[in-house]
Amino acid sequence: MMVVFLVVFGIFSTVYAFDCPDNCKCSTAAHKNLTVCQEGDLRSIPRTLNPYTNHLDISGNVIENLENRTFVEAGLINLQAIVLKSSTIRRIEQGTFVGLKWLIELDLSNNFIENIHPLLFSDNKLLEMVNFSGNPITRLVPYQFTTLQNLRTLDFRNCALENVEEEAFSNLVSLQTLCLKNNKLTTLPKNIFTWLKQMHNLDLDENPWQCDCNVQVIAILLLIRGLYNSNGTLTCTYATKPTIIRWQDMDHIHNDCEHHVQAHVKETIMSGSPRFGKSTVFKYMNTTRRLPRYSSHILQSPFLPWIAAFLALITSYGCVICICNIYKYRIQTNTHKKNYECTNKREENSIYRDDFCLIDEENTTSDVSVSIDL
Ligand SMILES: *[C@@H]1O[C@H](CO)[C@@H](O)[C@H](O)[C@H]1NC(C)=O
Ligand SMILES: *[C@@H]1O[C@H](CO)[C@@H](O)[C@H](O)[C@H]1NC(C)=O
Ligand SMILES: *[C@@H]1O[C@H](CO)[C@@H](O)[C@H](O)[C@H]1NC(C)=O
Ligand SMILES: *[C@@H]1O[C@H](CO)[C@@H](O)[C@H](O)[C@H]1NC(C)=O
Ligand SMILES: *[C@@H]1O[C@H](CO)[C@@H](O)[C@H](O)[C@H]1NC(C)=O
Repeated sequence: MMVVFLVVFGIFSTVYAFDCPDNCKCSTAAHKNLTVCQEGDLRSIPRTLNPYTNHLDISGNVIENLENRTFVEAGLINLQAIVLKSSTIRRIEQGTFVGLKWLIELDLSNNFIENIHPLLFSDNKLLEMVNFSGNPITRLVPYQFTTLQNLRTLDFRNCALENVEEEAFSNLVSLQTLCLKNNKLTTLPKNIFTWLKQMHNLDLDENPWQCDCNVQVIAILLLIRGLYNSNGTLTCTYATKPTIIRWQDMDHIHNDCEHHVQAHVKETIMSGSPRFGKSTVFKYMNTTRRLPRYSSHILQSPFLPWIAAFLALITSYGCVICICNIYKYRIQTNTHKKNYECTNKREENSIYRDDFCLIDEENTTSDVSVSIDL
């Protein structure tokens, strides 16, 4: 009788025992069941955990591979937070997080992950925070996180990112915080932040930025969206010269960039969250253009004898028309002078460079204009 009882109890307890495993600590706090199995030499996700576990921390173990359905097969379908820091993870199969419908936070920081499968999170629509910091990830591919419409925080600091491709952040309409600090980024696609309408916290520091057209356009966008870190920590170098300069001192409207500015600033600002209350048009004047020299132009003209004759004719008719011409010439030189003057109006955070300047007069004809309609 006793033996039968023991056998029955034994079977019962192996199937239904959710006592806390050795090396783990289980607790309940704020109506959440927490299980912490840190530094436990675990090689895989334990299969004897309480299936009602909401928060699982298995940091500091030696889990090299996260296999398909590993959490679901361990019965852990109620997980809301998984912390897997510093667990020597190298590979995450695409179906690892399948079935975790309630997952909100995922911390995979300080592992050896190189690739993120684009379908990795296709079952985790409630995810709000993903931390990949400290992993040797080199690139983010298009449509990488497209199911994560609730994602608010994405952390890639201290990774090895060299390439963030266009549409890498597509659909992340709730993203508020994006950290790309301390990577190997030299440029970004100019539409990269188009989807990120809610973003208000962006860290791009400590990257070897090149002062190229995309970075120039992004600098303008960030200024306009109020996301620019004006501490001067964002720097870049031109391909042609080694000097390190601050983003706000870049040639924002570079000749090569002009059409990019026209085409993309408007588009991106429109889809973002600019801080303007009304429709705004930025107008720029190209101040390097060689304005026609009234006199030299005429002097070089093959029609000089005719003009001389004409002038003589005018003179013979009296000085009235002549005076008008002089007056006209004076107005024109004044206009030229004005164009050149505005290059000296450099201010902190303003958007112009040596050969372009932002003009604020309503009626002046501009060379480049960027319109932001709301
Ligand atoms: C915590 O786990 C116990 C079983 O051990 C379960 O009865 C309870 O409902 C769980 N709490 C939550 C918030 O899931
Ligand atoms: C994991 O699952 C995906 C499909 O969800 C499949 O393509 C892949 O081969 C699986 N990996 C392994 C190692 O079974
Ligand atoms: C991500 O993880 C790193 C290292 O564990 C930590 O320093 C950082 O604060 C985390 N990021 C967020 C957003 O919690
Ligand atoms: C600017 O620098 C100060 C002090 O170094 C720091 O407290 C602040 O957070 C920085 N601002 C930004 C936007 O990084
Ligand atoms: C500005 O003017 C200079 C001189 O005419 C010209 O070479 C340059 O292409 C102009 N830039 C733009 C963007 O129109």
